Amino acid sequence: MNLRGKFITFEGSEGSGKSTHIQRLVRRLHAAGAETFVTREPGGTALGEEIRHLLLHHRSAIMSPETELLLFAAARAQLVREHILPALQSGQVVVCDRFLDSTTVYQGAARRLAAESVAAINHFAVGECRPDLTLVLDVPVEVSQSRVRTRGDGKADRIEREDGDFFRRVREGYLALAQAEPHRLAVFDSTRPPDEVESAIWKTLHERLA
Ligand SMILES: Nc1ncnc2c1ncn2[C@@H]1O[C@H](COP(=O)(O)OP(=O)(O)OP(=O)(O)O)[C@@H](O)[C@H]1O
Ligand SMILES: [Mg+2]
Repeated sequence: MNLRGKFITFEGSEGSGKSTHIQRLVRRLHAAGAETFVTREPGGTALGEEIRHLLLHHRSAIMSPETELLLFAAARAQLVREHILPALQSGQVVVCDRFLDSTTVYQGAARRLAAESVAAINHFAVGECRPDLTLVLDVPVEVSQSRVRTRGDGKADRIEREDGDFFRRVREGYLALAQAEPHRLAVFDSTRPPDEVESAIWKTLHERLA
């Protein structure tokens, strides 16, 4: 399997296991001799981390969905040009914790901004820099909420404070996207034991990126 210059993203609701499985995948990639660049959204650049703070922890709880969309897009535009494209060009495997699809799902499906506007802004932000493979970790809303709770830092961010309906739209949004683009997205049942999910992800990588 030649993974040079491949772009892999992880998506899924809060507490779905993205951080867990990024760590596990990166361990396997290193063991297979691949060089990796791992990053996260929003953030991943100095500018992007400041935008992340505005998005998740700004004192004012009031932020219009349009502002939110543009801030996510701004952070992503910077990350693509500053890190992702150069890393891909140098042959690294780029693994990103959330990317474009998070905006389609959170600001589009869940916040209900017009899908065409979201798609146009997404396209402007990243150009043709699209993931080769997107791994969607799926858990029921209740599982996601209880995992976030037991993480226990007691400091839910602005988006984590949304209600169950919001996260139901997030989950459905991801599943709809996976149906619309079955070649790029793969969905995993992340209520299964982590070892099992890890193996399934590795198998999918071989199948899809071989
Ligand atoms: N398959 C699994 N079965 C049981 N518990 C899991 C599984 N995957 C992850 N967890 C646990 O769920 C919690 C949340 O996982 P993790 O932090 O990886 O999710 P995340 O998607 O990165 O969340 P966030 O979006 O908030 O960053 C952790 O305590 C993790 O150990
Ligand atoms: Mg995480």
